[in-house]
Amino acid sequence: MTAISFQRALLFAGAVLPLAFAQTIVVDDGKVVEANESTVAPAVEPATGQLTDAVIANLTALQLTDIELFTFDTADNDTSASVKRTTSVGQCKTFPGDKKWPSRLTWTVLDLLTGGALIETVPIGAVCYPSNGVYDAAKCADLIANWQKSITHSSDPTSVMSPLYQGETCMPQDGNSSTCTLGGFPSYAVKATNVFQIQLAINFARNLNLRLVVKNTGHDFLGKSCGAGALSIWTHNLKDIQFISSYKTPSYKGAALKIGAGVQVGELYAAANKYGVTAVGGECEGVGVAGGYTTGGGHSPMSGKLGLGSDQVLSLDVVLPNGRFVTASETQNTDLFWAMRGGGGSTFGVVVSMTVKAYPKMNFAGLTWTIMSGPDTNNTDAVFWQAMYAYWRKFPEFAAQGNYGYSMIFPRGAAGSGFMWTMNPWQVPGMTLAQFQAMVQPLFDEWNALGFQFEPVYFEHDNFYDMWTQHFPAESVANSNLRTASRLYPRSNWADNATREAMFDAVRSVVEDGSALIQYNMNPAAPAGTPASGANSHWRDAVWFGIMGAAWADGISQEELKAVNVKITHTWMDKLRQYGPGGYLNEGDVMEPDFADAFYGTNYNRLLKIKRQVDPTDVFWAPTAVGSERWQVEGQEDWLTLQTGRLCKVSE
Ligand SMILES: Cc1cc2nc3c(=O)[nH]c(=O)nc-3n(C[C@H](O)[C@H](O)[C@H](O)COP(=O)(O)OP(=O)(O)OC[C@H]3O[C@@H](n4cnc5c(N)ncnc54)[C@H](O)[C@@H]3O)c2cc1C
Ligand SMILES: *[C@@H]1O[C@H](CO)[C@@H](O)[C@H](O)[C@H]1NC(C)=O
Ligand SMILES: *[C@@H]1O[C@H](CO)[C@@H](O)[C@H](O)[C@H]1NC(C)=O
Ligand SMILES: *[C@@H]1O[C@H](CO)[C@@H](O)[C@H](O)[C@H]1NC(C)=O
Ligand SMILES: *[C@@H]1O[C@H](CO)[C@@H](O)[C@H](O)[C@H]1NC(C)=O
Ligand SMILES: *[C@@H]1O[C@H](CO)[C@@H](O)[C@H](O)[C@H]1NC(C)=O
Ligand SMILES: *[C@@H]1O[C@H](CO)[C@@H](O)[C@H](O)[C@H]1NC(C)=O
Repeated sequence: MTAISFQRALLFAGAVLPLAFAQTIVVDDGKVVEANESTVAPAVEPATGQLTDAVIANLTALQLTDIELFTFDTADNDTSASVKRTTSVGQCKTFPGDKKWPSRLTWTVLDLLTGGALIETVPIGAVCYPSNGVYDAAKCADLIANWQKSITHSSDPTSVMSPLYQGETCMPQDGNSSTCTLGGFPSYAVKATNVFQIQLAINFARNLNLRLVVKNTGHDFLGKSCGAGALSIWTHNLKDIQFISSYKTPSYKGAALKIGAGVQVGELYAAANKYGVTAVGGECEGVGVAGGYTTGGGHSPMSGKLGLGSDQVLSLDVVLPNGRFVTASETQNTDLFWAMRGGGGSTFGVVVSMTVKAYPKMNFAGLTWTIMSGPDTNNTDAVFWQAMYAYWRKFPEFAAQGNYGYSMIFPRGAAGSGFMWTMNPWQVPGMTLAQFQAMVQPLFDEWNALGFQFEPVYFEHDNFYDMWTQHFPAESVANSNLRTASRLYPRSNWADNATREAMFDAVRSVVEDGSALIQYNMNPAAPAGTPASGANSHWRDAVWFGIMGAAWADGISQEELKAVNVKITHTWMDKLRQYGPGGYLNEGDVMEPDFADAFYGTNYNRLLKIKRQVDPTDVFWAPTAVGSERWQVEGQEDWLTLQTGRLCKVSE
């Protein structure tokens, strides 16, 4: 790019965005240029803050070099163009070092156009590496101290909470001189604060055949929010929350909340509390409501009564793979509205904001406990499992009453040292404590007859916020070397004793073999009147959701690593899959053999058809996402896909 066209680009940079503050831009020839509101004229579509054809026309008039890097997909106007851009089998997304990888100056232009929102990746742990230019012992100590807090990772442009998938590169450490590499981190991220930047980033990635990823908080358990050599769109800072006291759609009339893509569970709950309503989100405060959670289905402490997170959506504002900004609702872009409620994040476009239902305040009653078995307790393992089975037997009955039983079961140590069972919590929206106690009494009578020792701690609150802040565990994330898998078991498994017992014994055997188990007793059926959606059909008749997983020690051999990974996907899951093909795409196994059925159920074919329509060239890709089967990350083991390699096309 010439100096002249660079000046134009700079001029344009100011033109696109009313710059909030003067920014210093260093160009690669060493010249430093400053731009601010008064040096440039705003040229963004003033009413909407969007990239439009009129804006592109103005840019073209400026004779900006390489303007075609930022233009919309012309596929809908000219099919030959889209055919030309389609990648064929064997071809890959352009990767750093490739001849076609954008030059530094091209990246600078993207930075300018986005108003300085482009961030070149520095892995979060780089402050801990003395050989790295950003080494800072104090920041490193702080990072190590706060590593397991989700805010540490959600507030970083590229850090993810399952470091396994970025290759566990550049992990924070107590200072040694080994090198910190990018691994599976994206090369660049656009810190999105408006629609315009998201449109530019998508157009740029599509037009240059770059891998595109979307990161909101980085909670994803399957590595879907990172990717080597990618441009990432970081949605975390889209924080608007607006309360709408009366919102009407063909199927709904009532209060609603319009939330930006970056709003997190704790922020949604606090806002709902402030406005005197109840909103649906996950159990941990840091999860991104409008990002992966809702688009992936989303289970909630209220799911037994109100359905999935995706059942709450009334409207979605989305930037599509072709760069266009659209609204999807019951009356507009209805296929997209169906698909993006449960059909998965990072597949059909980038959510900018969504409008969700808000309910009146309600009462909550429930309990917590910590129960142990083992030689140092009064509970033998045999009684522990009998008591657990007595609880399991009642799952359909409890689920039918809107229950949410959220508990964890862990082996306490080596075989023979017993088990620990924490209930965190078991609660029912809309119940009084007296009703709750009456409901659990028959189970406790059975337990007392077994001689099972337990101490329930009851609670009752007249609103969700107090219940959630006081009885849910604090979030702890970013464990290394951890893999998860999950299953959804349908009510029908409970219909005959033999199936129910065999199913329970299978789960028990996996825990006895060393798996942790996070189990939920709930039935997230869609409440009457909810429009149909692409959410996993296996959720709808489930009365049990279980997350299994295992961790391994640092530095184990490749053979041992393979063994533990194969054990999760096959030894354990093959056994459990017999009792239910369903799993949860947000809390599942990235190696799930038939992920289409497991994560999407009967909705997969329609989801795939919509994916092919809105994203024919796969601008969006994530492991196990709808349509992901025709691409593969290079250099992976067949028992574990990380995001550390180049993304290449493997089939049509
Ligand atoms: C500690 C913890 C607690 C959890 N609790 C629950 C729970 O109670 N209920 C539940 O259902 N799940 C829960 N989950 C799982 C959670 O729903 C998923 O990890 C979910 O994907 C998080 O979404 P995110 O946007 O915060 O995360 P990210 O990792 O940033 O994104 C997840 C996926 O969504 C995509 N995405 C993000 N933002 C957008 C956007 N704006 N537009 C399009 N795609 C986007 C990403 O590309 C990625 O594929 C939990 C996970 C953890 C780690
Ligand atoms: C904007 O930039 C111009 C040129 O560099 C400078 O003279 C002016 O003071 C700046 N204005 C603000 C508000 O920073
Ligand atoms: C295009 O540029 C002209 C002249 O600078 C300006 O008046 C107009 O508002 C611009 N239009 C858009 C959509 O940016
Ligand atoms: C291309 O199609 C879009 C709608 O899909 C339309 O808004 C736009 O004006 C068209 N552009 C051209 C150059 O025809
Ligand atoms: C140095 O860092 C590497 C990479 O994180 C790690 O594997 C190794 O254990 C560290 N060594 C020491 C002595 O901390
Ligand atoms: C076992 O039960 C006895 C009698 O109820 C009680 O005193 C003791 O504290 C219990 N032990 C444990 C470890 O709970
Ligand atoms: C199933 O179990 C119930 C309760 O334990 C029992 O009453 C019933 O007879 C059993 N049915 C069969 C077919 O074993």
